[in-house]
Amino acid sequence: MFLERLTLFNFKNYAEANLHFDQSIYCFLGNNGSGKTNLLDAMHYLSMTKSSINPSDAQNIRLGEKQFIVKGEFVVGSKKQEVVCSYQAGQKKIVLEDGRDSTKFSEHIGKYPVVMIAPQDIELIWDGSEIRRKFFDSLISQVDRVYLENLIVYTTHLRQRNSALKLFAQNGRVDEDLLFSYDQKIIPSGELIHQRRKDFLKGFLGAFKQHYQNLSDSNEDAYINYQSDLDQNDLADILTKNRERDWLAQRTHAGIHRDDFLFLLNNQEVKKFGSQGQQKSFLIALKLAEFQAITEKKKFKPLLLLDDIFDKLDDIRIQKILQLISNGTFGQLFITDARPGRCEEVLTQAQLKTGMVKIENGKFV
Ligand SMILES: Nc1ncnc2c1ncn2[C@@H]1O[C@H](COP(=O)(O)OP(=O)(O)O)[C@@H](O)[C@H]1O
Ligand SMILES: [Mg+2]
Repeated sequence: MFLERLTLFNFKNYAEANLHFDQSIYCFLGNNGSGKTNLLDAMHYLSMTKSSINPSDAQNIRLGEKQFIVKGEFVVGSKKQEVVCSYQAGQKKIVLEDGRDSTKFSEHIGKYPVVMIAPQDIELIWDGSEIRRKFFDSLISQVDRVYLENLIVYTTHLRQRNSALKLFAQNGRVDEDLLFSYDQKIIPSGELIHQRRKDFLKGFLGAFKQHYQNLSDSNEDAYINYQSDLDQNDLADILTKNRERDWLAQRTHAGIHRDDFLFLLNNQEVKKFGSQGQQKSFLIALKLAEFQAITEKKKFKPLLLLDDIFDKLDDIRIQKILQLISNGTFGQLFITDARPGRCEEVLTQAQLKTGMVKIENGKFV
């Protein structure tokens, strides 16, 4: 997949911006806060119909303005496609594909895939289970629409179920029929998500381990252990068993919204025992395996967005990535860097032709 043009209107710190891309590799250069990451985020928005950084659409509108528009012109295979995402304060967000309204975002997600490697990825290792679930949900959703549709059903009804549990506590009365009706939606979608997470991980692990060993030049056993309440029990039984606990605590205790993906290295948690270098290799291996999974499923390559990669990685791992770039593993690639000259130097040394875009305060110079 190739992004030919990116147009922004009142998106974050850009009033108006228009970039034309005719090469495979671009570097966005500029001081901290100039708007490099915001450009990558705009590409993420076109792909996922949301920002990778700020989940609040209102806060993605340029301060003092009322509406943002992000437009991308893609070439997928031999087809040109225009994607427009726009949001106006207080209104529903709009996603247009060649002028047609994508009323169901679930049908849009996965059509223009991106893989982003960013400094905040370290949260995947450090934070609680939610962020890892989000990572796998977002990845599997891009390659499996049924998964995404079921995830939406599950999340919506879980939210309603939890609101109902709170209401029961306020009213001092439990409406069992209402709970039962939510459970009838939650059970099949939860079971499907559990099965598909398991299935997906089987394929993903092979690629992931290989990337880890290549990046770290080691034989260490990198592994992802998927853990779910549903591993031992049916979701229907789990919900029945927890019913009274749920009433008392006013929330749903068990289900696939509690799953975790444990990151292990030689059977130990990377969070607790991994060195900084091991953690970095783990994260990049995750993203490269993501890239591979999407490429295999879609039969074309997603955009690869490398945010501040040179700051966060040591020379050995940068060389490994450059090798992958040089041997044509990736398609189109966007890199950001705050240090003048470095990006150009590294890529020129690797004999990679690169477009340079200099940014100052949301303007190209
Ligand atoms: N809604 C917004 N309106 C105006 N400016 C914004 C908005 N959201 C973020 N910004 C600004 O964008 C800048 C950060 O841009 P970013 O792309 O992260 O910079 P960097 O070049 O360091 O990657 C900050 O100065 C921030 O204040
Ligand atoms: Mg940045």
